[in-house]
Amino acid sequence: MPGAAAVYNDFAIFTGRAHPELAEAIAARLGRPLGKVDVFEFSNENIFVQFQENIRQRDVYLVQPFVSPVNTSILELLIMIDAARRASAGRITAVIPYYAYGRSDKKDQPRVPITARLIANMLETAGADRVLTMNLHAGQIQGFFNIPLDELNALFPVSAYFKSKNLTDYTVVATDVGGEKRARDRAVRLDLPLAIIDKRRIGNTETAEAMHVIGEVEGRGCLILDDEISTAGTIVSAVNALRQNGAREMIISCYHPVFSGPAVARLRSLDAREIDTRGEPPLALHEPAAEAPAHARRAGVERGDSARIAEVVGEALVVSQALDQDHDHVPAGLGAHGLAQIDRTGAGAVCADA
Ligand code: R5P
Repeated sequence: MPGAAAVYNDFAIFTGRAHPELAEAIAARLGRPLGKVDVFEFSNENIFVQFQENIRQRDVYLVQPFVSPVNTSILELLIMIDAARRASAGRITAVIPYYAYGRSDKKDQPRVPITARLIANMLETAGADRVLTMNLHAGQIQGFFNIPLDELNALFPVSAYFKSKNLTDYTVVATDVGGEKRARDRAVRLDLPLAIIDKRRIGNTETAEAMHVIGEVEGRGCLILDDEISTAGTIVSAVNALRQNGAREMIISCYHPVFSGPAVARLRSLDAREIDTRGEPPLALHEPAAEAPAHARRAGVERGDSARIAEVVGEALVVSQALDQDHDHVPAGLGAHGLAQIDRTGAGAVCADA
């Protein structure tokens, strides 16, 4: 109903220990300081959480990307949700810019789990009312949740960044068949042709093998797109295959720079023109990445990058809050990141996907 008042007393943003810098930047976008919460571990590794302010009937956002140490980040968020529920929060939104275990989204071998589904179940059981995330490994993970899940898409700011570079003689390359739609969306926005790599992963090892390149790359630059770079095995084999097929130069782009294990060394050895981790500022491969703290680097989130994520997530929260106040009107000036596609049927659901 237009003009209907929100049923919650105000909103508040809290974070665990996964990436406080990112949470602060998101809160700044909303013009709020982070709420006060104690989160620490006892010597027996049990995690303790206590909100240090009243959250009764408040609209509570808990910001916690599932970054390194991944399993602690997940459990800590679950415990925070439980604490918020027991403190009578009005609505609890888990803000998870990176949803780890996304690749465990199907039973593709005998006797294996579907961990992405398990985590969805745990978030609901703990008491989350909504989830806000970005660029899931596969869209169908949305269906693992029985609560509303809004998946933001960094396609828009990243495409704008590459548009400004005028990459006229480039081809957008999907690193595997599963990434075809993601790469096609980027190619359409940049008005560039598309190529796809036929990739094979060898068992559960971190070795990926590019078998064939489907599409025209000879003499062209390649903008290689993957959803996440973990060990960079996929990217290395893609670059090798593209070079064998006569490609001229490489720009590597991903939404989730996890950069685990040998990733940084592998990426540096590739002699790529640039590696973009979700838009500006790009991390030039020739520059030392030492400015970012080790923890953030392991997690794959560079300092500049967190500012970019914060802008997109922050804007989604602003739009969501605005829609809670008035379901039919998004205030002028919002939607700069393509968040204008609003689901007006839900209670402030925001969908940025194209
Ligand atoms: C696989 O399906 C994903 O889209 C990525 O290609 C994969 O997660 C990259 O992993 P890595 O960097 O370890 O090859």
